[in-house]
Amino acid sequence: MPSRALRRYLRHGTLPQLAVFESVARLGSFTRAAEELHMAQPTVSVQAKKLAETVGLPLLEQVGKKIHLTGAGRELQAACDDIFRRLEQLDARLAAMRGLEAGTLRLAVTTTAKYFAPRLLGEFCHEHPGLEVALALLNRQSLLQRLADNLDDLYLFSNPPADIEVVTHPIMPNPMVVVARADHPLATKSGLPFAAIAGEPMLVREPGSGTRMVLEDVFEQQGATPRVRMELGSNEAIKQAILGDLGISILSRHALDADYRREGLAILDVKGFPVERQWYAVYPAGRQLSPAAARFVEFLKDAAGREPGATVARPARPVRTTRRRGT
Ligand code: PGA
Repeated sequence: MPSRALRRYLRHGTLPQLAVFESVARLGSFTRAAEELHMAQPTVSVQAKKLAETVGLPLLEQVGKKIHLTGAGRELQAACDDIFRRLEQLDARLAAMRGLEAGTLRLAVTTTAKYFAPRLLGEFCHEHPGLEVALALLNRQSLLQRLADNLDDLYLFSNPPADIEVVTHPIMPNPMVVVARADHPLATKSGLPFAAIAGEPMLVREPGSGTRMVLEDVFEQQGATPRVRMELGSNEAIKQAILGDLGISILSRHALDADYRREGLAILDVKGFPVERQWYAVYPAGRQLSPAAARFVEFLKDAAGREPGATVARPARPVRTTRRRGT
């Protein structure tokens, strides 16, 4: 039985009030919370006020147009996150009993996985129309932070974390290729030694990008230093800079169109390339995979074989691992 101290929270309506408060706290605005929750703004304000009365402390402060959380508000926001996450877990378990007709799937993928992940997620949703899905796209470093904070059900990485204990399911190959403009003098040559590209102006992704990490690893293995011409925050920007004749780069094959020549690009034939990396579905080792996420991993393994570039045989078993860089 809940303790006496909990009685104040057991009134009718506390849970909806918490949902209203969580939305106001996250969005910093009564108006935006009302839009999100499809409620009238005065109702949102009244609900938030009632919750403050239940708690017995002010939760929100309005300074000008901005809403700020009080100390009690911050505590309650953290508690809301816990409560709603716990309810989501419960809902996912019950959904499993209902055969994935409901439930949520929170997927977070690196920016380079955006070339296939949303499409595959779309196919999966067609098969399970009752599922609610959320997809976050971030570079590797930001994704690592989300993983450490245990914010999502599943992550797609090409370079999974080296120092967090995770379970990794290999999904499909991720060939890394040298990309140049179609009319680049090296585009017609075959069997180029690495030295032929080592001195070329290089376009590199931002710090924290897994793509950049591969480029740096490749140069390090060759005992060379890239001649960085420019740092850009996305694969798309890099491709545009290549088309603008600013340099060449090393990118995932997935970042290029199936017919990349029509984009005006060439893949250079350099010895040692493509560098074979792998896409992995990853989750923290301690986490119980939700039924929707477990089903999605199986779906990815099947669907990935149909993706362009998925030509190399893949290892079949998931691996539980803590890897340290350089070991
Ligand atoms: P990126 O990462 O999109 O941050 O470059 C690719 C990866 O390492 O998964």
